[in-house]
Amino acid sequence: MTRILLTTTSYQDIPGDHHKMLEESGFEIIRERGPLTEARMLELVGDIDGMICGDDAITAAVVDKALPRLKVISKYGIGLDKIDTDYVEKVGVPLTFCPGVNHTTVAEHTFALMLALFRHLVEEANYTRDGKWTRLSGHEIMGKTIGIVGLGRIGREVAIRAKAFGLRVVGYDIYWPEAFAEEMGVERFDSIAEVFKEAEILSLHTNLTAETENMVCAESIETMKDGVVILNCARGELVNPKDMAAALESGKVGGYGTDVLDVEPPPADHVLLKAKNCIVTPHIGSRTHESVQRQAGMATRNLLNYFNGKPAEAQANKAPWPSA
Ligand SMILES: NC(=O)c1ccc[n+]([C@@H]2O[C@H](COP(=O)([O-])OP(=O)(O)OC[C@H]3O[C@@H](n4cnc5c(N)ncnc54)[C@H](O)[C@@H]3O)[C@@H](O)[C@H]2O)c1
Repeated sequence: MTRILLTTTSYQDIPGDHHKMLEESGFEIIRERGPLTEARMLELVGDIDGMICGDDAITAAVVDKALPRLKVISKYGIGLDKIDTDYVEKVGVPLTFCPGVNHTTVAEHTFALMLALFRHLVEEANYTRDGKWTRLSGHEIMGKTIGIVGLGRIGREVAIRAKAFGLRVVGYDIYWPEAFAEEMGVERFDSIAEVFKEAEILSLHTNLTAETENMVCAESIETMKDGVVILNCARGELVNPKDMAAALESGKVGGYGTDVLDVEPPPADHVLLKAKNCIVTPHIGSRTHESVQRQAGMATRNLLNYFNGKPAEAQANKAPWPSA
């Protein structure tokens, strides 16, 4: 019998048609609660034919152990940074993913973090819950300059919303979306460093790569405006956690709103969990009913299409795909 490893929790926890679709396949489903470590993945793979995975460690060693039985990996989501994509392609295992289904939801979460920081929302709600009427003064976002690093699907949705809030929008991307930027009035900067210097609000929306890892660190923070508010709904590794905590403590960075950490889930003593002016949410940027249903539907169709010899909706590598 075809055996499928399913690790993503939002897929499993949120109702929707994807459950029926997967059930009707007749496949045996092995359910785990990810993100899984390499050690746990090594225990699980070997006699599974396919995966619907989240941010689990899919290293070369995991792929080697999974072969020859593993036929297809369906990544639930868009970020492929926990997968050894080069190796997966080299050994010829098709990898699919889900672009274009969660960008609006993640952009909304970015604004939730931004507005919460500017209006001390978490602190104030905690005061009133404690029976206190402690009134802090916030700041408007209107008229401020937001710098968006990475104008891909999510970055562009953030730009659209920023314009609606009356912000000046500047940005940088290695592939500049000319027509979009022109239409929305997004100013093009020549480098990440230029954006860092100009932004009063900085929003990170690149993939995690060797170039983007650790891009926000003591050295780059030094070049930024005093009191800059930084938002991260992309990947925790883009930001150096210790440097960020120090900059929050000193006030150089006025606030850090992040949905992602370098270690997820974090250890109890992670330096950002109790940092000043810091809001951390547990990687829920795309976890809305609407987005999960779109994403789970796409991840399931990608997987089932492989076994039914139909085209993938979005293949992330060039490994051979079966035809009907
Ligand atoms: N918090 C969440 O739940 C959540 C959900 C979805 C996606 N994400 C993350 O958000 C990020 C963006 O997702 P997306 O859907 O917009 O992806 P995308 O591929 O559409 O956009 C990423 C953009 O970053 C740009 N980029 C890559 N390297 C760059 C560099 N060195 N300098 C400047 N720009 C660079 C790319 O050209 C691209 O336009 C990814 O890291 C993804 O993993 C997080």
